[in-house]
Amino acid sequence: LKPNPTVFIIFGGTGDLAWRKLAPALYNLYLDGWMPDHFSIVGTGRTKLTDEEFREKLLEGINLFSRSGKAEKEQWETFSQNIYYQVSDLKNAATYRELGSRIKTYETAWDQKADLIYYLAVSPNFFPIIAENIAKNCPKEGLDRTRIVIEKPFGHDLDSARALNAQLQGIFDEKQIYRIDHYLGKETVQNIMAFRFANSLLEPIWNRNYIDHVQISVTEQLGVEDRGGYYDGAGALRDMIQNHLLQLLCLIAMEPPVNLDADEVRNRRVDVLRSMRRFSPDDIRFSAVRGQYGHGWIEGKEVPGYRDEPEVDPTSNTETFAALKFFVDNWRWQGVPFYLRTGKHLSQSASVISIQFKNIPHSIFPPEAAENWQQNRLVFSIQPEMSIRLQMQAKRPGLDMTLNPVDLVFDYSGTYPGKPPEAYETLLLDTMLGDQTLFMRSDQVEAAWDLIMPILHAWENKKSLSFPNYPAGSWGPENAEALIAQDGFHWFTLPLNGKHG
Ligand code: BG6
Repeated sequence: LKPNPTVFIIFGGTGDLAWRKLAPALYNLYLDGWMPDHFSIVGTGRTKLTDEEFREKLLEGINLFSRSGKAEKEQWETFSQNIYYQVSDLKNAATYRELGSRIKTYETAWDQKADLIYYLAVSPNFFPIIAENIAKNCPKEGLDRTRIVIEKPFGHDLDSARALNAQLQGIFDEKQIYRIDHYLGKETVQNIMAFRFANSLLEPIWNRNYIDHVQISVTEQLGVEDRGGYYDGAGALRDMIQNHLLQLLCLIAMEPPVNLDADEVRNRRVDVLRSMRRFSPDDIRFSAVRGQYGHGWIEGKEVPGYRDEPEVDPTSNTETFAALKFFVDNWRWQGVPFYLRTGKHLSQSASVISIQFKNIPHSIFPPEAAENWQQNRLVFSIQPEMSIRLQMQAKRPGLDMTLNPVDLVFDYSGTYPGKPPEAYETLLLDTMLGDQTLFMRSDQVEAAWDLIMPILHAWENKKSLSFPNYPAGSWGPENAEALIAQDGFHWFTLPLNGKHG
């Protein structure tokens, strides 16, 4: 299976995404033999660069960020012959006509029609103007052969997401629009579906009768870095919960799809969002916690508080932390809480899903034998450790009956040597192959916005907050602990040595 000949056009070719993610991903696809026999990668940007200068810039990114390490001279030279640069003015039709004639030139040289991928690695304000200009001034190779790729944010709220979807769908068919949520491309995230639906063991217990609660936690040590300008208008709810965390929840909670057709899988994911309970004002008070980091320490390094970050309003009430308790109102999940939490400048960087099963109905062991009692837990560790762990009770070796929690572990690094593909490799290959399974459909995006709108409104309307309310380097605000402790649980963390906590 190899993609058709492809012209891959990157709007925003000199930007961070192209350098950090797209170039390393395309290069690795090339090394692994996945790139089409004929392809051209055309970067566009305002800066004046020659093809050679652009290639050098991408090479820098590849050397720094590629999974395969520094590029080998010979391989790079062959690959980079397919990279070109075009100075562009996104508002000017001539830019698009020039792209069009380039495409024709490549096709003539290959003596074949090409699939066209327009990758919009630019600020969302430019999406409509680029889309319109592509439609008017660039060649279109029909529904199956022309695709447009966009990155989040897909709107700022439900109304703007709807408007953006309507604009894009006025120009392209939904089948041509590839909305990236890079979490869906991660190896460990793709394995959630494989693990759930390729094993018969789990399905009978994957429901409210056996599962006590679910935790989805994406914590980051990173702060807002140089993205203060964007982040201050977004916040954790928009930046992470609306997309990545809710998509993880969908993968855990979805019904088995009939097959792996893109729309079948996406239908099952959107069903989950549509089943989720809307937050009432009381839920917002008791089941939603927000926080903002203050000055603190990350791995021995002093870091400023959020309000002192570049391009952040010094009186900002934007949340850099959010913890929420959701319910999925359907037969499978009625009454099972799904706790989601995410935040910046926290103590640890880890994306972990913990499925906690119900306790045994009756213990035959004396209390002293079971001092370390733990309910069974299945843990999908997405990053940095890549593993799936099933936590069980077992007898500790010795002459007495003492129980201890132990893990049955599937550890990627021990099982599969080498580094697995990066999310962007999977997603770019799928774009070239025309497979939309791992991409967000318009109704998924809108359903996720719809779900969080009451929380966004409530948070925006109540601005008098005692922010900052957690020091950088901590586990977030205290009431995030209270959110889960009031139900008798605690946030699960996986220490970096892999032993459960
Ligand atoms: C992005 C967010 O979508 O995901 C960032 O905008 C966040 O704020 C990032 O840091 C996290 O992704 P990953 O792959 O590093 O977990």
